[in-house]
Amino acid sequence: MERFRGKVAVVTGGGGGIGAAVSRRLAREGAAVVAADMSAPALQSVVADIVAAGGAAEAAIIDLRDESASRLMIEGILARHQRIDVLVNNAGIFRGGNLLSLSEDDWRLSFSVNLDAIFHLCRAVLPGMIERRAGAIVNISSQWALSPAPNSIAYNVTKAAVASFTQNLARDYAPDGIRVNAVCPGEIHTPMLEEGLKRAGRTVEQLNRLVPFGRIGTSEEVAALVAFLASNEAPFMCGSLVEITGAQAVA
Ligand SMILES: NC(=O)c1ccc[n+]([C@@H]2O[C@H](COP(=O)([O-])OP(=O)(O)OC[C@H]3O[C@@H](n4cnc5c(N)ncnc54)[C@H](O)[C@@H]3O)[C@@H](O)[C@H]2O)c1
Repeated sequence: MERFRGKVAVVTGGGGGIGAAVSRRLAREGAAVVAADMSAPALQSVVADIVAAGGAAEAAIIDLRDESASRLMIEGILARHQRIDVLVNNAGIFRGGNLLSLSEDDWRLSFSVNLDAIFHLCRAVLPGMIERRAGAIVNISSQWALSPAPNSIAYNVTKAAVASFTQNLARDYAPDGIRVNAVCPGEIHTPMLEEGLKRAGRTVEQLNRLVPFGRIGTSEEVAALVAFLASNEAPFMCGSLVEITGAQAVA
């Protein structure tokens, strides 16, 4: 499939589990991918893999909490490529805790990475998309946005905000030809999930048993959905929150 031939895609959190899979998938389908992440070694190895496989990718090492760095990154991409067709807002963090146990710093950090970074990137990317009357934005929310898991208030609230942000952007810019959708994954096997399991003293096998489908999901399965939503195969999908969970309900 060459659904992204000639297109330019920006993927945040491109060094992490889902972001790396999305970057690889879009590049394999012909996109020139700019993968952005604050973790330089992980990002560089993803980009090197893509290039070694004959794809086009570049690394942007950036802390997305820094608004002016985000703006400069987008300006640089537009100067080099003249367009951004696809923006995948995937970078995110998890800080656990309930209202009383969570620190105020973790509350603010969660908003800064999970929500504010998306706000700033969309503001930087949208004018060019509007001018060309085309563009697709896919935000990575979470199943926990719709059905909150316990002891995860900062994460759940920021992801619910990402879901609402997605629907708002879709309503406001659909008339300009821009499609904005969100993916709401359940449990997906990534470094973030591994960290969570370690903290809880649980195993992947235990988690597998909680999913009606018999196992947790893979980053590649999420990447396939992101690619579909970002592609011209989904022309009427706009403002959708698409769950990908293996039929798991939040425990
Ligand atoms: N893994 C899951 O089960 C799951 C479920 C639902 C939603 N999600 C969401 O999917 C997205 C990707 O998660 P993942 O599981 O691949 O996690 P991950 O930890 O493997 O990857 C996240 C990436 O984001 C980057 N990042 C974090 N803060 C950043 C910042 N300030 N600036 C730049 N980069 C930053 C990290 O360096 C990392 O490479 C996240 O938004 C997460 O909330 C994951």
